[in-house]
Amino acid sequence: MTNRSQLASWQALEKSASSVKNTHLKTLFSEDNTRFSQFSQQIPGVLFDYSKQLVTKDIFSQLISLAKECDIASWRNKMFSGEKINITEDRAVLHTALRNRAHTPLIVDGENITTAVDAELAKIKAFVAKVRSGQWQGYTNKAVKDVVSIGVGGSNLGPQMATEALKAFADDTLNVHYVSNADGVQVASVLKNLDPETTLFVISSKTFTTSETMTNAKTAVAWFLDSAKDESAIAKHFVAVSTNLEKTAAFGISDDNVFTMWDWVGGRFSLWSAIGLPIALYLGYETFEAILEGAFEIDEHFKSAPLEENIPLIMALLSVWNTSFLGYTAQAILPYDQALHMLPAYLQQGEMESNGKHVNFAGETVPYTTVPIIWGMTGINGQHAFYQCLHQGNVIVPADFIASVKPQVAVDKHHDILLSNFFAQTQAMMAGVDAQQITADLKAKGKEQSEIDALLKHKIHQGNRPTTSFLLDTVDAKTVGRLIALYEHKIFCQGIILDICSFDQWGVELGKGLASKIEAELVDETVTNSHDSSTAGLIAFYKSQRA
Ligand code: F6P
Repeated sequence: MTNRSQLASWQALEKSASSVKNTHLKTLFSEDNTRFSQFSQQIPGVLFDYSKQLVTKDIFSQLISLAKECDIASWRNKMFSGEKINITEDRAVLHTALRNRAHTPLIVDGENITTAVDAELAKIKAFVAKVRSGQWQGYTNKAVKDVVSIGVGGSNLGPQMATEALKAFADDTLNVHYVSNADGVQVASVLKNLDPETTLFVISSKTFTTSETMTNAKTAVAWFLDSAKDESAIAKHFVAVSTNLEKTAAFGISDDNVFTMWDWVGGRFSLWSAIGLPIALYLGYETFEAILEGAFEIDEHFKSAPLEENIPLIMALLSVWNTSFLGYTAQAILPYDQALHMLPAYLQQGEMESNGKHVNFAGETVPYTTVPIIWGMTGINGQHAFYQCLHQGNVIVPADFIASVKPQVAVDKHHDILLSNFFAQTQAMMAGVDAQQITADLKAKGKEQSEIDALLKHKIHQGNRPTTSFLLDTVDAKTVGRLIALYEHKIFCQGIILDICSFDQWGVELGKGLASKIEAELVDETVTNSHDSSTAGLIAFYKSQRA
C-alpha cells in the first residue's frame, strides 16, 4: 500500500514547503491584490477567508491534487452511506444521519436508521414539551426548574458548548447545569443551590460505564434520595442518554426514561443525538432543531461543492499543510465572540481525540506529524495573555480567528471595538513590522539614534504567521450547527488525508484501565499492585498523607 508521503502530490508539496519558507505573506499580498477573492469562500451565514495562509495558486492546486490522490470523494461517500470506516471498532460513522433533514432513508445493517433517528427526535420533542410546560412533575408534583446534565468528554462538551453559545436566546423556563469532573467540588457546588423537588438529572453516557460519570450520577442519586426517601421517585427525576439499556436499567433508570443513541455515533460527534437533550430542554426543541438544520446545510455543501470550493476540505488541507509540511505543530482557535468561549475546548476533543494517532489505517507508523496541538480562548482575553508569543515567539502557531458580523447583544460600540481587534490581529500576524517601519516610527516620536538601536530588535515582529478568518452572520442556533459541522468534516478530511482512523480513541482507554486498577488500591488497603518507583512513591505518599 502506498504511504501518503510517496504520493506525487505529497512530494510536490514537500518541495513547495521548502521553497515557500523563504517567502513572506506580505510579499504575496503585495504581488497579488486578488488574494482575498482567490482564497476566500462564502456560503450562507459564513465567510471563510484563508488568504492569510501561506499558500499560492500552485500550492493550492497541489493540495487539491493531494485530496484527489487520497480519494477524498469516495471516502466521503463511504461515510455518508454508512460503510464501516471506523475499522478498528467495525462501525459506521454516521453522525450526519442524525441531522438528515431531508429524511432520506439510510439502511445500516438491514435497518432504516432514518426512521429510528426521526422516532428518537420525536421522543425528545415530546419530552422537552412536557418538561418545559410543567406537565412533567417531580415527586412532590412540582414542575422542573433545574436540569443537571452529567456526562464527560463527548457526552458533555458539545451540549455545554452549545448551551454557552446560545444562552442569550434562553427564556427563564429552566436552568441547566453541567457536571463532568470526578472532582467532587464540581458536583457539590452545583447541587448545593438546587432543590431536589424541582431538579431533573440527565445522565449522558454512551457506554454507561464511564467511571467519572457513574460516580457523579451515584452522588446525584444519593443527594436526591436524601430528600425524596423513596426510590420510586427516581423515575421522575432521572433520565439517561445511552446505548446501553442493560446498564441504565441496572442503575435504576426505567427504559421509558432512556433516550437512545447508536454505536455508529462517536462520542465527540454526538451533540446531534439525544446527547443534545440538555440543549433542547434549556432552549426549546425548535432551537435544537435549528442547530441540526445548520449542520445539515454544511453536510450538503460538503457533499456537493467542488473540491476547490469545499470549505471543510480546504480547512483540512490547510491544517495538513501547516502541520505536516511546514512543521507548525500547534493551532490556536480564537473566537472573538464571548458566546463561543467553549469552542476551543470542544474542538480540542474533536480534533485531538480523532486524529492524535501515529499509525495509518494499515497500522504502519506514519512518517509525518499528524494532528497539531489545538488550544485557544476568546480572542480579546488571549490578546492580554498569550498573543505576545503568537506575534514574537519563535514557534509559529497558525490560528483560526472566528467572529460574527452581528453581535448577539448589541451594546453601544462594543462590537466595532471587538472586531477592530480581530482585523488588526490577523493583519499584524500576517504583515508583522520590520526594522524600517520601527525606525521611522521611533524617529517620528523624537527618539535618539542610540535609543532606537537599543529598542529596534525587541520591537521587530517577523509576521508571516498564517491565519484563517471566519466571519459568521451572527451566533445563533443555525450558525452553531454550521460551524461545528464545518470542523467535523474538516477533522474527517484531515484523517483521510493523513491516512488515519479518526473514529477510535484507544489512547484514552489505556489511562481509564490503569486508573480503575489504582482506584482499587486507594480504596482497599488489602489491594496492592506493582508499579514503577515514581508511581509507587506517589501513591504511597498520597495514602500516607490523606486524612
Ligand atoms: O474521553 C474518552 C471518551 O471515550 C470519549 O470519546 C467520550 O466522548 C467520553 O469518553 C465519554 O464516554 P461515554 O459517553 O461512554 O461516557
